[in-house]
Amino acid sequence: MSVTIGTPLQSSAFKVLLLGSGELGKEVVISLQRLGVEVHAADRYDHAPAMQVAHYSYTLNMADAEELKQLIQQVKPHLIIPEIEAIATQVLVDIEQQNIATVIPSAKAVNLTMNREGIRRLAAEELGLPTSAYRFADTLESFRAASDDIGYPNFVKPVMSSSGKGQSRVKSFDEVDAAWEYAQTGGRVNQGTVIVESQIDFDFEITLLTVRAKNAETGEIETQYCDPIGHRQDSGDYVESWQPQAMTPTALEESKRIANKVTIALGGCGIFGVELFVKGDKVWFSEVSPRPHDTGLVTLASQFQNEFELHARAILGLPVNTTRHSVAASAVIYAGVDDHDLSFSGLDLALVNPNTDLRLFGKPEGFKRRRMGVATARAETTDQARELALHTATQVTVQQN
Ligand SMILES: Nc1ncnc2c1ncn2[C@@H]1O[C@H](COP(=O)(O)OP(=O)(O)O)[C@@H](O)[C@H]1O
Ligand SMILES: [Mg+2]
Repeated sequence: MSVTIGTPLQSSAFKVLLLGSGELGKEVVISLQRLGVEVHAADRYDHAPAMQVAHYSYTLNMADAEELKQLIQQVKPHLIIPEIEAIATQVLVDIEQQNIATVIPSAKAVNLTMNREGIRRLAAEELGLPTSAYRFADTLESFRAASDDIGYPNFVKPVMSSSGKGQSRVKSFDEVDAAWEYAQTGGRVNQGTVIVESQIDFDFEITLLTVRAKNAETGEIETQYCDPIGHRQDSGDYVESWQPQAMTPTALEESKRIANKVTIALGGCGIFGVELFVKGDKVWFSEVSPRPHDTGLVTLASQFQNEFELHARAILGLPVNTTRHSVAASAVIYAGVDDHDLSFSGLDLALVNPNTDLRLFGKPEGFKRRRMGVATARAETTDQARELALHTATQVTVQQN
């Protein structure tokens, strides 16, 4: 069945409810607005980035099943787009089962990826994909044993966390107890379970943006890939990304095979950020986001349809084009201070090179390591693009009022 889009704010409106209204959601909303969709945006605080460009906004605790149910009953959306992981996902499973709305990309995908245990067991145990060695632990005792079992160095992460929160790299048994403490405070839900992963000694890591979208002629869902995105993480948080990341044809084929398998298993339509570790021809699956990926901000500068437009089109059942037109890079702009109502200057200097661009997200409050914006740059090579994007980002100064 093909989609019909009505008129926003009228009874024919095609309505989308965005759960989580960060900077990635903001770009998704802009893409949906351009196609005449009526957008409702929710988050736990007022004036979140995507709320500022939506038709309606709501502030609530989305991890509270009752509050979330009420909101969905009130809005009556056609599509629900979870943009963050901290959501009462069981509500979404019920909504999908009762055919009340379509969950993007699918309730199964949202449910499995909100917990590292769900997606890791699916990838490694059901699909047989290569991953790091891993153990789960929910007490200090079992955690100590799991750490020794996996060996050192290893990575410890709360199963319910993102952006490196509560995550540490453990170099020896001496550091195990501190890693446990840190994981307990950094998890999203005070649930206690952690994953211990063996360290993969990779040459580089990539995000393979993978789109499941309907072919307009056949009506079949097809899988398409953007060029691989290379990125650098600092304490589990992305600081710069570039596209394309050079890799061997064998590694690229293997990356696509892994991405295809995992996205088919998760189902639905939309974009997925498949995170992979690469060493020579060898590729390991790390994790996957069933939505646009932060490292994919680089596609704002590199592709005819950026990852947000690809997502908007795919979820509406429209055809997509993943072609890249330029070599580009992105670099993150942090607040650098803990304060609200910040100002940004140096923008003219930042944009002096015509191949650069900026996004400022409009977050009402900053803290030292909070992402407030991103710089993008196009160049002949990825090295030049990275240098230009980093330079552009550093030209922006954050001021307190
Ligand atoms: N097993 C591992 N081996 C090597 N590096 C890892 C491993 N796990 C995580 N990392 C590093 O930490 C980053 C963040 O880890 P990830 O599992 O993606 O957490 P998050 O969900 O917070 O993004 C990765 O992008 C990678 O740079
Ligand atoms: Mg990650």
